[in-house]
Amino acid sequence: MRAAAWLAFGLFSADVTCAQMVARGRHAMVVTREAHATDAALAVLQAGGNAVDAAVAAGFVLAVTHPAAGNLGGGGFLLVRFHDNRAAFLDFRERAPLAASRNMYLDAEGTPTRESLTGWRAAAVPGTVRGLELAHRKWGTRPWAELLAPAIRLASHGFLVSYALARSLRQAKVLGEFPESRRIFQRDGRFYEPGDRLVQPELARTLERLARHGARDFYEGETARRLAAAMQAHGGLITLEDLRRYEALERPPLRGSYKGWEILTAPPPSSGGVGLLQMLAMLETTGYEKAGAGSAAVVHFLTEVMRRYYADRSRWLGDPDFARIPVQELLDPVYVAARRRTIDPERATPSESLGPGELPTAESSETTHYSIVDAQGNAVAVTYTLNGSYGCGVTVPGLGFLLNNEMDDFAVKPGAPNYYGLIQGEANAIAPGKRPLSSMTPTIVLRNGRLAMVLGSPGGPRIITTVLQVFLNLVDFNLDLWTAVLRPRFHHQWKPDAIVVEPGFSPDTLALLRAKGHRIEEARSIGEVAAIAADEGWWVGVADPRAEGKASGF
Ligand code: DON
Repeated sequence: MRAAAWLAFGLFSADVTCAQMVARGRHAMVVTREAHATDAALAVLQAGGNAVDAAVAAGFVLAVTHPAAGNLGGGGFLLVRFHDNRAAFLDFRERAPLAASRNMYLDAEGTPTRESLTGWRAAAVPGTVRGLELAHRKWGTRPWAELLAPAIRLASHGFLVSYALARSLRQAKVLGEFPESRRIFQRDGRFYEPGDRLVQPELARTLERLARHGARDFYEGETARRLAAAMQAHGGLITLEDLRRYEALERPPLRGSYKGWEILTAPPPSSGGVGLLQMLAMLETTGYEKAGAGSAAVVHFLTEVMRRYYADRSRWLGDPDFARIPVQELLDPVYVAARRRTIDPERATPSESLGPGELPTAESSETTHYSIVDAQGNAVAVTYTLNGSYGCGVTVPGLGFLLNNEMDDFAVKPGAPNYYGLIQGEANAIAPGKRPLSSMTPTIVLRNGRLAMVLGSPGGPRIITTVLQVFLNLVDFNLDLWTAVLRPRFHHQWKPDAIVVEPGFSPDTLALLRAKGHRIEEARSIGEVAAIAADEGWWVGVADPRAEGKASGF
């Protein structure tokens, strides 16, 4: 079946059929944003590798076939839950270079410049290669080089550019600003057409060195030396010392529950897990869902819950290695109940009149997600990113990979909105070696101790509300996974004070929301979910039709 309706939104790639976006498997399932990555990960599982092996293979393939977000030059989070109930979270978020400083992106008048978004100075120290290697070293079962082989093959022999990739490369103005990016990804202006072959020999050589020497090459070897030299030549901040010092960290996953569902999710420096759990806690026991999925009453209540969390996020969240993040206080039932009591079921609370909560004992675009379940029942959820689409736009000459612009996830100027319009505070100010606050929310859900869901999404701050809505669609509104992902989504982040809605809400609903005092803005799309759910002895995988992903299982 071709999802012709999606063409109307310009969201749907003509060379992808709906059939590859939903899959059922008895044993194992992979859902990623891009078909080659799904196929490579599934092949690893079929050859006896586990979900971590498959996640490593997918991570490297996406760096080749989905250059807007797949990466070597970015960072992210990996959440794993093993069949014996052990769970772990790897933080391979980028870090600010040692030469970074609090006001580095402000001009003489104190106004934020574009430097946190575009060009060499926007890049933070990449974490992906260390993160994938750490995952492999701890839990992998297949040889490292074998897991890099599909990515190397796709980089050196090339792959056929899809309709959506051709359009995305053509539209990426930032790539045109940097000669190496323009040469590789835009053929110096002779843009790729769907069906053309994209070959990336420099990236293939970099991947080959990683296959041979491991992550050391990236952080201490030839790749590190060439990256640091290019940084120096172009006024960037990342040095050999920054690269050598970069560490991926294992942190305990954040745990919570909702109506008997057990949730494992991302701890700080992600704001996603805390947000998901706080919003769920504010909803539980209210019976808000009785008004019915998509009703104005439900959208209103969820909006008010979102507004309250994002106000808290603006003040309290940041890198836990630099300040104590009051996670327990933010999830404290007494605090959450007090915040809940400020919700008026009839009227929108103006964000201007609502600040972050005073905690009981408080002290002072483009990303991608993939979900994997293997035949043993191990589950892996990975969200990783360059931040903006194609990151800061810079491809390191000779190395073939793009660098992130994750420095913009810091509060470049505390109190002033960032690229995503987010207001952020002192806890997320720039400091050398610090990790910028993230919204990435890889999440695993259990029911009666058994794996029930694996999910996540890109979308900057909209990630957290996307994961929340897909989860609620399944749990509170009894929708199947495909419908839960398909349904139009909305988002509120405290400031700007507006509900952002996808096409598909009824005009009646929107009118009722306006009557309650909400301002409504339209968005083309919100999030791109890659989700797996257990269904009567089967795994159902769904790749969001808002993108051109693929679900595949056996
Ligand atoms: O970590 C974060 O929250 C952002 N850097 C994620 C960026 C993102 O999801 C862009 N995708 N559309």
